[in-house]
Amino acid sequence: MTASDAPVVEIDDLGKTYPGAADPALSGVSLAVHRGEVVVLLGLSGSGKSTLLRHIDGLELPSSGTVRALGEDVPALRGRALRTLRGRIGFIFQQFELVGPLTVLENVLTGSLARMRGPRVGVWSYPRELRLAALAHLDRVGLLERAYQRADTLSGGQQQRVAIARALMQDPEILLADEPVASLDPESSSQVMALIREIAAERGLTVVCSLHQVDLALGWGDRIVGLRAGRVVLDIATEGLSRDQVMEIYGRVATTTTELQVIEQELSEVRDAILAEEAQLTQDENR
Ligand SMILES: Nc1ncnc2c1ncn2[C@@H]1O[C@H](COP(=O)(O)OP(=O)(O)O)[C@@H](O)[C@H]1O
Ligand SMILES: [Mg+2]
Repeated sequence: MTASDAPVVEIDDLGKTYPGAADPALSGVSLAVHRGEVVVLLGLSGSGKSTLLRHIDGLELPSSGTVRALGEDVPALRGRALRTLRGRIGFIFQQFELVGPLTVLENVLTGSLARMRGPRVGVWSYPRELRLAALAHLDRVGLLERAYQRADTLSGGQQQRVAIARALMQDPEILLADEPVASLDPESSSQVMALIREIAAERGLTVVCSLHQVDLALGWGDRIVGLRAGRVVLDIATEGLSRDQVMEIYGRVATTTTELQVIEQELSEVRDAILAEEAQLTQDENR
């Protein structure tokens, strides 16, 4: 295998138990993501999606197992080496994490901070080529005319597009997105997901994005990785999958109550069969 074939994210038997937690947040998670792949992490709240994404960016340390990203042993990195890795990985969040009182343009510019020294105050403290790059990214996400508006005056969908432009300032190789559309209405959600997809294709970006909406996951990812209670319960290419199949998969991934009902149903059938058999035996004995 040549270097270019090596996965850009390579997770092996990852376990994570938060201090004081009774149950592990992740156990036995293995996952390899190749350059240019667009992967959806699908799972209910609490299934471990954020924890998994945060390990890729070195925001959490594993309890066991290994995490490699862009050829680096992530948990072993400290200081400058860790900042360098994070500079190569963009991260967008459910709550956008913009600085509300700052302008849209300043927010986008902060995406370049990982590559620069010292704090920056105001648009004019950034070199001209970065200001031009920031404006170009804003244009790409369709918000050029909003550049000098306060970030907190934008709609949710627009704020998430600003966050995408900010991530692009890093010229990332990997984009991690943690439920990027969970706070948005369906129409803005589709727009934001489509935008991420287009930009990923244009730039050959590798994307790992957590979602809990089946329809979005199906139409959007190349591959769905399902998590339940910290374990990978599904890893499948979306090509050729029907909605029904995914709903069934999602049922397996997510709706634990449905699963429990199925199991309870099966158990009660077994119990009925046993009871019937016992009744038959007693009847036979009494003959
Ligand atoms: N910082 C933390 N400290 C303790 N427990 C945590 C922490 N973060 C997450 N957890 C727990 O780990 C599990 C997985 O959480 P998380 O990764 O946030 O799932 P998801 O993103 O799929 O909702 C949950 O049981 C959650 O309560
Ligand atoms: Mg989460």
